[in-house]
Amino acid sequence: MNKDRKLIIAGNWKMNKTVAESLDLVRGLKIELANIKEVDIVICPPFTALSEVSKAILDSNIRLGAQNMSEHNVGAYTGEIAAVMLKEFSVRYVILGHSERRQYQKESNELIAKKAAAVHAASLKPIVCVGETLAEREAGKTNQVLETQVRGSLVGLSKDQITESIIAYEPVWAIGTGKTATTEQAQEAHAFIRRVLVSMFDETVARRVRIQYGGSVKPSNARELMSQPDVDGALVGGASLEARSFADIIKNSI
Ligand code: PGA
Repeated sequence: MNKDRKLIIAGNWKMNKTVAESLDLVRGLKIELANIKEVDIVICPPFTALSEVSKAILDSNIRLGAQNMSEHNVGAYTGEIAAVMLKEFSVRYVILGHSERRQYQKESNELIAKKAAAVHAASLKPIVCVGETLAEREAGKTNQVLETQVRGSLVGLSKDQITESIIAYEPVWAIGTGKTATTEQAQEAHAFIRRVLVSMFDETVARRVRIQYGGSVKPSNARELMSQPDVDGALVGGASLEARSFADIIKNSI
């Protein structure tokens, strides 16, 4: 594949896997994925499994991500997890603003922007999720929603920080539904997000930011999606819970 951005494929395990189950999955992934260098491979287990998973992947090409992080550094924030705590387990990436958190935890673009700043302050990399609902798409508002989310969730980041950020385009109607965006819909949305980045920053910066597609990515559709000029990886939910399917998505993308 002839793209100057390295593909990044991340597994978002969501609220799945005990520690024992996580270690089982990692064992399988290490065998399936050994020697793959063409793709940045990231897994995002639940917080409770980060410690053990972190040890289990030490000698591998798999990197660790978290599914959320507090915008605060320390203090009286019951139930929250700070950057310094994630760094203890060599976490490198943090998913921010997933549509499930936007929906169930009412996370706003403003909050996500604060979290993104905290992630960068800790020298971690955010995976910032954006995406429209079915109603928004059907009302012809996809671009408007994406622009508001991209601008609002990334506001205040420097050029260096945005270059080190990953954006995940995840149409809400495609998440966990088995409905994937067509390659044309994905490419169109990714190209639009890149144009927003040009207007917020500049061409050079926009060309360097990696934009993942997420929403029912499977081994059977990964190759076609990844072959699109503005699709630079995937954020995988359901299909990342099994070693074979996650590995096949990665192998089919190279
Ligand atoms: P899915 O989830 O692959 O199960 O559709 C993707 C995501 O929510 O990140």
